[in-house]
Amino acid sequence: MPRFLSGVQPSGELHLGNYFGAIVQHLKLQAEGEALFFIADYHALTTVQDAPRLRELTREVAATYLALGLDPKRAIFFRQSDVPEVHELTWLLEVVTGMGLLERAVSYKDKTERGLRATVGLFTYPALMAADILIYRSNVVPVGADQVQHIEIAQDMAASFNAAFKTDVLVKPEFRLSAVPKVLGTDGQKMSKSYGNTIPIFAEGKALKKAVNAIVTDSKDPKAGPLDPDTCNAFAIFSLFAGEAEKAELAKRYREDRTFPGYGITKKAIMDGMDARFGPAREVFRTLKAGSELDDILAEGGRKARALACETLARCREATGLGRRLT
Ligand code: TRP
Repeated sequence: MPRFLSGVQPSGELHLGNYFGAIVQHLKLQAEGEALFFIADYHALTTVQDAPRLRELTREVAATYLALGLDPKRAIFFRQSDVPEVHELTWLLEVVTGMGLLERAVSYKDKTERGLRATVGLFTYPALMAADILIYRSNVVPVGADQVQHIEIAQDMAASFNAAFKTDVLVKPEFRLSAVPKVLGTDGQKMSKSYGNTIPIFAEGKALKKAVNAIVTDSKDPKAGPLDPDTCNAFAIFSLFAGEAEKAELAKRYREDRTFPGYGITKKAIMDGMDARFGPAREVFRTLKAGSELDDILAEGGRKARALACETLARCREATGLGRRLT
């Protein structure tokens, strides 16, 4: 059985882009093999440097995944920082890694170009990510296209480590890119928290209305002529929730119905779609976020993950000539 692993940074409120682009794929994996999911709080420290905020975001990500169907009996669900051993493996990887490998990483360039400070942590981010993957001897890492290079870096690091220390302890991970729908934000660009154009998964009532009303549409008068569903943001977002028949019906109204009252109809349909899809989970989300069950689930997952990590690390220490860890 393949072992899947993926991490998600708690660096902002999860939105429809995260849901359709990652969460749906993650949840499916629970049935396909052994799955490990973690909340990458160490990685988030590269951007979130505010303790109450990091705590809040971590709980929010955990509650989101659980409310949407992550089953802690099937998957190991944990906080990255509950396994501090990853830093030790990071070091062991760094000593066999040429500077050039990290210098070629595009995520560092992207982030510094967007104005993030060029810290050492941002630079070595891929090494910590490689350690995350390798310490659990993961076979498959489901990621978005922007993370593929990081998996390739992990592959290189595993090979370098095994070659340098004449061992086979580290397993070569493969990435898996799923076909995911392109999720546009309220302004028509890719939905992303850095563009401020998101619709949060669990927005409801007034907040949901506000987010959906922010969707930019054209100002054509529906009475004057046909509207084009294919270039309409609101229609694209609606399509994420709608079945084929519903989509065809609304598209037809755009094109043919000159009494069509306008894009308000599409926005209402988006809100209905979100209520139908996420309504039941909202309640679970709120309860989880407010209580302590969440902490128990993460602690239990953390202990399981840590046991796996310690096994790999012991073998790595042995391979390098470091002493056995004192108990
Ligand atoms: N870098 C990933 C992201 O921003 C998060 C992450 C950290 C991750 N460690 C990982 C993903 C290990 C997969 C495997 O999305």
